[in-house]
Amino acid sequence: MGRVEGKVAFVTGAARGQGRAHAVRLAEEGADIVIVDACTEIDSVPYPLASETDLKETEALVAATGRRVLSRVADVRNQSQLDAVVADALEAFGHIDIVCANAGIVGFRPTWELSDVEWQDMLDVNLTGVFHTIRAVVPDMIRGGRGGSIIMTSSVQAFLGSANIGHYNASKSGVVGLMRTLATELGPHGIRVNTVNPSAVETPMLHNEATFRVFGPDLDDPGPDDLWERSKDRNPMGIGWVAPEDMSSAVLFLASDESRFITGVALPVDAGVRL
Ligand SMILES: NC(=O)c1ccc[n+]([C@@H]2O[C@H](COP(=O)([O-])OP(=O)(O)OC[C@H]3O[C@@H](n4cnc5c(N)ncnc54)[C@H](O)[C@@H]3O)[C@@H](O)[C@H]2O)c1
Repeated sequence: MGRVEGKVAFVTGAARGQGRAHAVRLAEEGADIVIVDACTEIDSVPYPLASETDLKETEALVAATGRRVLSRVADVRNQSQLDAVVADALEAFGHIDIVCANAGIVGFRPTWELSDVEWQDMLDVNLTGVFHTIRAVVPDMIRGGRGGSIIMTSSVQAFLGSANIGHYNASKSGVVGLMRTLATELGPHGIRVNTVNPSAVETPMLHNEATFRVFGPDLDDPGPDDLWERSKDRNPMGIGWVAPEDMSSAVLFLASDESRFITGVALPVDAGVRL
C-alpha cells in the first residue's frame, strides 16, 4: 500500500521544480494526479517560467509510475480555467483529496521601487492564485464528505524580513494567514490545511541569472557555487539549498493520513534558517 493510495492529488505549478517533484512523489505513493501550469512568461518575472514541453515531461514522469494523470495548461490567476480543470478531474477521477497550491513567482527590488505591475503580479499569482485554487476544489471536497488535505506553498520568508522581496514576503505571509483561517473553517469537514515554508530550493526559481545577482551583487559573473557559499552561512546546517524532493517528503507527510490531526501548521523546511 502506498502512503496516499486511492487518493487524487491536484498540483498547481507542476510543469517543473517542486510541483513536478510533488506530483511524481505522490504518484509513487499511489495517488492519481491532476497537474496544471500556466506555461507562460510573465513580463515582471526576471527569469523564464515553465513551458508546455516541461508540463508534458511531468505528465510522462507521472504516467511512468503507473498512476493516472490529467494534465492541463491553466493559470492560477484565472478562476474559470481552474474551475474547468477541476470539473474535468472530477469527471475523470470522481474526487480530489489532496491539493498542493504550489504555483508561484519571485522578483527582486527594494520595496519602495516596486512598480504597480510587479506588486500586482506577485499578489495575483502567489496569493490570489492560492485563493482561486481553494475556491475551485473546496466545495466538492466538502460535498464529498471524504475529508482531505490542502498544502499551500508559502516560504520561510513569511518568518523573516529579507531585503528586496517585500512583495514576495507579503504574498507568502498572506498565504500563511489564509491557511490558518481555512484550517478553522474546514476542520469540521475533516479537511486539513497546512503550509510548507521552504528556504532556498534547487529549482529554476533559484538557479537563474537574476537570483545569482541578488546573492552576489559584488561579483562579475555570479553562479551556483557563489550562491551555495553565500546561502550556506545563513543556516546552522551549512547547506546552500534543499532539493525539491526534500519539499515533497514534507508534502507527502502532510498529504497522507500519517498527519491526520495536523492542521493549521506552517512547516519550515529550511535547515534552521530561522534560528
Ligand atoms: N525555489 C525556492 O528557493 C523557493 C523558496 C521558497 C518558496 N518557494 C515557492 O515554491 C513554489 C514552487 O516554486 P519552484 O521553486 O518549484 O519554482 P519554479 O519556478 O521551478 O516553479 C514554479 C512553477 O509555477 C508555475 N507558475 C508560475 N506562475 C503561474 C501561474 N500564474 N499559474 C500557474 N502556474 C504558474 C511556473 O511556470 C513554474 O512551473 C513557489 O510557490 C515558490 O514561491 C520556492
